[in-house]
Amino acid sequence: MKKVTIHNSGYEVKIAKIIKTKQMTPQEKLFEIALPGGEGLDHDPGQFVEVSLCGVGEAPISVCSSPTNRSTFELCVRNAGKFTNYMQTLDAGEEIGIRGPFGVGFPTNILEGNDLLLVAGGLGIAPLRSLINFVIDNRRDFGKVSILLGCKSPKNVLFGDEIEFWEKRADVNFACTVDKADPEWAGNVGLITSLIPGIDLDPHRTFAVVVGPPIMYKFVIKELLAKKIPEKQILVSLERHMKCGLGKCGHCQIEEIYCCQDGPVFTYDQIKNIKGAI
Ligand SMILES: Cc1cc2nc3c(=O)[nH]c(=O)nc-3n(C[C@H](O)[C@H](O)[C@H](O)COP(=O)(O)OP(=O)(O)OC[C@H]3O[C@@H](n4cnc5c(N)ncnc54)[C@H](O)[C@@H]3O)c2cc1C
Ligand code: FES
Repeated sequence: MKKVTIHNSGYEVKIAKIIKTKQMTPQEKLFEIALPGGEGLDHDPGQFVEVSLCGVGEAPISVCSSPTNRSTFELCVRNAGKFTNYMQTLDAGEEIGIRGPFGVGFPTNILEGNDLLLVAGGLGIAPLRSLINFVIDNRRDFGKVSILLGCKSPKNVLFGDEIEFWEKRADVNFACTVDKADPEWAGNVGLITSLIPGIDLDPHRTFAVVVGPPIMYKFVIKELLAKKIPEKQILVSLERHMKCGLGKCGHCQIEEIYCCQDGPVFTYDQIKNIKGAI
């Protein structure tokens, strides 16, 4: 899998400006961000940045925009605690610190020419959206594209406008399911794993990409293996607590791997025997 070059020391914090924000749900806010001097972020889908707020702290956040959008980038932040709560108060015109991008993202060069089954659970749609929009912007380079999204309830569905666009495209198969419906919901109800058996795929030319909470990817991987997708063709983005993003602090270490540098994206084959990874 491709190793990514960090263009600065990794410690350098760039002062970036928030260009636009959008409250997506009561818990999640979308930020469009510009680096100084119009410099692009130059990231791969699946990579993350360390966001810093003076006097508050620093947190890893996935880049949720496609690298094809070069002048600005986007982050979708869920209010989970002190740092992310403070992020919710920020608006256009305010400044934040950015380090990165960090980590190994999705290997787009390897995915090219193959069919894709892209599976997101909850906030996992944020990093996956970067890959989805990259694939859509370069649609002719990929085979069949299927996107499966699972959310707790209809009010937790993120990127609703884009989902409508993906749903309408003839060259994308899109399905969404919620664990618990409300009276207006006319779609699927049930866990995301329930959507996988019905997917028509050729396992030898399919790469599956899974992003979501650990409980979700564990069961999704089981279903993908049942579909006979080779272990080397199942990619998973591991969710781990991270601090430095640089392979120094050990917060993200599982046995010999550092999720921040060796991942967060791994093939199932790479991590299946690493205790505590899956
Ligand atoms: C590679 C990576 C990419 C991420 N991408 C996103 C993203 O796109 N959007 C987003 O909203 N969040 C993302 N997160 C999670 C985000 O970093 C945490 O929610 C944040 O650090 C919590 O800080 P806090 O001070 O707000 O909450 P805290 O008070 O520190 O913690 C609140 C809750 O969040 C959990 N948490 C704390 N730190 C992390 C962490 N590093 N990873 C996962 N859970 C954590 C805690 O266990 C606790 O349950 C990502 C994390 C990683 C490692
Ligand atoms: S986050 Fe510090 S070693 Fe990975």
